[in-house]
Amino acid sequence: MKFFIDTANLDEIRKAKSLGIVDGVTTNPTLLSREAGDPMEVLKAICSEISGPVSAEVVSLDEEGIVREGRELAKIANNIVIKIPITEDGLRAVRRLEAEGIHTNVTLVFSPMQALLAAKAGATYISAFVGRLDDVSHVGMDTVRLASQIYDTYGFDTQIIVASIRNPLHVLDAALAGADIATIPYKVITQLVQHPLTEIGIQRFLEDWKKVEARKKK
Ligand code: E4P
Repeated sequence: MKFFIDTANLDEIRKAKSLGIVDGVTTNPTLLSREAGDPMEVLKAICSEISGPVSAEVVSLDEEGIVREGRELAKIANNIVIKIPITEDGLRAVRRLEAEGIHTNVTLVFSPMQALLAAKAGATYISAFVGRLDDVSHVGMDTVRLASQIYDTYGFDTQIIVASIRNPLHVLDAALAGADIATIPYKVITQLVQHPLTEIGIQRFLEDWKKVEARKKK
C-alpha cells in the first residue's frame, strides 16, 4: 500500500519525505489556496521535491476547459497527475487526456458507481472521499470496499486513493478495504507514529539507564 501526503505545504512534504514514507502528493484548490505565491510555482516546487505522482486539480468545469487546463498543468513536470471532479464533462476529458498519455485522478468520488464510471473512462486513479461521507453519517469506507471488489472482479487497473482522511483509523480501514493508496494529511501521519505505550516505554528505559550510569560513577 502506498502513502501519499495530502497537502500543498512544502515544509510538511519535506518533513514527511524525511521519514521515507511518501510515495506521492495530492493537492486540491483548497490546499493550494492556503499557500503563499503562484500555485503553478508551488506545484513546480513540490514536483522537484517528490519523484512520485503529484495531483494538481483543474477548476474548469467544461470538457474543453478541463482538457486545456490539464495540458497546461501537465507541462509543469512529468510526475503531474491531473485531478478532475467526476462529472459528464470530466469523464470525457479523462478519456482524452489519458489517450494523450496524461495521467488522471478522478476526484470527489462518493459512490461505487462513480468509481466504476471513472475506471471505464480510463482513469489512472480515483479519489474516494471517506471523511466527507462519514461527516454526513454514511460509512465512507463502504465506497472503497465496493469499488475495490468491482475493480478486482473486472480487472480494472485504476488505483483507489482513499482521500479525505481524518484520523489513523481511516488509514487502517483503507488498508483492510484493499485500497492501493491512502492520501494522508501531515497531522495524521504524525498521529500514526505515536503510541502512549511507546512514550512510556522510552521513559522507563531512560530511567533504568540512569541507574546504570549512576553505578558506573560509584
Ligand atoms: C485529496 O485528494 C482530497 O482533495 C482531500 O483528501 C480532501 O480532504 P477534505 O475532505 O479533508 O477536504
